[in-house]
Amino acid sequence: MTATLQTIRGCVLAPDPDHQRVSLLPDALLRIDDAGVIVSVEAASADCDVPNTWPGAVIVPGFVDVHLHFPQTRVIGSASGPLLPWLERSVFPEEQRFADDDYAATVADEFCDALIAQGTTCAAIYSSSHPGATERLFAALARRGLRAATGLTLMDRHGPAALVRSHTDALAASEGLLERWHGYDRGRLQLSMIPRFAISCTPELMQAAGTFAASHDLLIQSHISENLDEIAKTLELFPGQRDYLGVYEAHGCATASTILAHCIHLSDHEWSRFVSRDLAIAHCPDSNFFLGSGAMPLAAALDRGLRVGLGTDVGAGRTFSVRRVAAAAHDAALLHGAPVAPQALLWLATRGGARALGRPQLGCVAPGFEADLAVIDLPALGSSDMDTIIDALLFRHDAGPVRATLVRGRVL
Ligand code: GUN
Ligand code: FE
Repeated sequence: MTATLQTIRGCVLAPDPDHQRVSLLPDALLRIDDAGVIVSVEAASADCDVPNTWPGAVIVPGFVDVHLHFPQTRVIGSASGPLLPWLERSVFPEEQRFADDDYAATVADEFCDALIAQGTTCAAIYSSSHPGATERLFAALARRGLRAATGLTLMDRHGPAALVRSHTDALAASEGLLERWHGYDRGRLQLSMIPRFAISCTPELMQAAGTFAASHDLLIQSHISENLDEIAKTLELFPGQRDYLGVYEAHGCATASTILAHCIHLSDHEWSRFVSRDLAIAHCPDSNFFLGSGAMPLAAALDRGLRVGLGTDVGAGRTFSVRRVAAAAHDAALLHGAPVAPQALLWLATRGGARALGRPQLGCVAPGFEADLAVIDLPALGSSDMDTIIDALLFRHDAGPVRATLVRGRVL
């Protein structure tokens, strides 16, 4: 038996484990064991002597950011898009600075601060292509108590010489990171394989990344179908493939442990292979608006039963707030004439992201789930019904700062 260490009382929004629904528990009592796992969730009784831990706030599962770039922290908001010119002008020059380990360590702290400030408890992160910078990022995440999957951003062509790295070097560095960090602190940190996108990877690099991921059961992350010029260049570089997804399929990078960002311009045939392969989607609507990339058909992806999470895509995304991304997802869905309910958007920001990253023990406030939580101040509202609370949480950008971010019941 584990001793009960902690009791939290407050207003809770609890996502359903399987369906895109949320329940309101207006005055709940959460018990958390010494491993940081929720052991019970009950309505607080009338004579409950635990004070409301955070009066005026609402408790939700910690947000899951399924796609963002650590070395773009300091170039957020660079309006030099669309995608390919933005990479050349704003991103590659900044990512080169991560060859300096001290610079990387400084930015890694800023990056962790920014995640915690927004109530994000778990993230799928692209590091730079540098082993030293990635080591600093892992160390900062370990120290700050966050959950993450990260690894080198793999590129061996079509980038500046200071960023490209041969597949043999990149795989050797990944071996070291695997030994030191994969599974750290009962699985809080994971190594991920990240072929940046097809344009920046030779077939050899992509295949090596896919094989390494399969042999160690690692998350694979990449980008797909974000921009029309990107798609055209990809098909020029891989003339043997009929479409963009075919490139990843042919090199072992389209598995049930793969999450692909953007998915804006996919064909019907590609969408049906997303289903048959159980590929997960990182929906990044704020980034998509900022780079003028387009709008992913979110409702259609959900109707197909696909696993979808929300990604800030910092630094093409302008915010570390997954709540703001949920608001952008609302707007993007309207452009398709297919609205997605606010309740479903909150679900995607939490439980949906956990499922997309293959972390089944996260994203719910229920017995057996990890006590990763965000506590958010609510503004004065005209009503205390659930829809009013969710609308304020997601759509009132000026209201509701995050008061506390917890992983395994511990305030970060
Ligand atoms: N495609 C390849 N690299 C990137 C990146 O850094 N950001 C975005 N948004 N798309 C990419
Ligand atoms: Fe990205």
